Amino acid sequence: MNVFGVDIGGSGIKGAPVDLERGDLAEPRHKVLTPHPATPDSVIDGVKEVVDHFGWSGPVGITFPGVVTDGITRTAANVDKGWVDLDAQKVLGERLGMPVTVLNDADAAGVAEMTFGAGAGRKGTVLLLTFGTGIGSALFLDGRLVPNTELGHLELHGHDAEKNASTKAKEDEDLSWEHWAKRVTKYLAHVEMLFSPSLFIIGGGVSRKAEKFLPLIEGIRAEIVPAQLQNNAGIVGAAMAAAKR
Ligand code: BGC
Repeated sequence: MNVFGVDIGGSGIKGAPVDLERGDLAEPRHKVLTPHPATPDSVIDGVKEVVDHFGWSGPVGITFPGVVTDGITRTAANVDKGWVDLDAQKVLGERLGMPVTVLNDADAAGVAEMTFGAGAGRKGTVLLLTFGTGIGSALFLDGRLVPNTELGHLELHGHDAEKNASTKAKEDEDLSWEHWAKRVTKYLAHVEMLFSPSLFIIGGGVSRKAEKFLPLIEGIRAEIVPAQLQNNAGIVGAAMAAAKR
């Protein structure tokens, strides 16, 4: 069965029909740039454009880069504050005229990785962290998600961790891989101190360049692997969530 997945990110809104048996995109994804400011109206226009590109009609799963409870978007660290306390699931459903499921972006990526990717069959505590505009987290115990963990906003040296160790920080401050990897290592050590996971899965766009920085991360007890679905994990996880509703 195919279900549509959309991933709303800090730089792009990407989507495609997803083949749920294979856990992969059924067609090449379509992407539009995330508008700035990323207000609900302008982002929803972008989501509609992506869905319409495929002439899709049916269930749609949509990720959001913030806390989502019962379809309501609760926080908006890297998008317009107009999303705070918005019934995004309802508004998006009405605009698209289709059944919509909204969930946190890292949670969606995590669910996809635990089913089809680097976390498949892994028991115990597993943490997926996505590095991009922000840092997203998805916490699993024996394959079950604890939603909306928001570990990117842990305070580290008096600062919001994602401001220091996201890939946006790497770009904005023009950090070398070595310098950035040191920051990521400190962040992972802090998260490990709190949760002692047996596995870290590193997702987000940067997972495509894992060979550039994973070898530079040392002194972490847990196994560290790149996400296998790479930047499509959010789209796949969104479609999985929509299929479950
Ligand atoms: C948000 C998270 C999100 C992460 C990655 C953070 O700023 O608070 O909800 O998962 O960015 O987009």
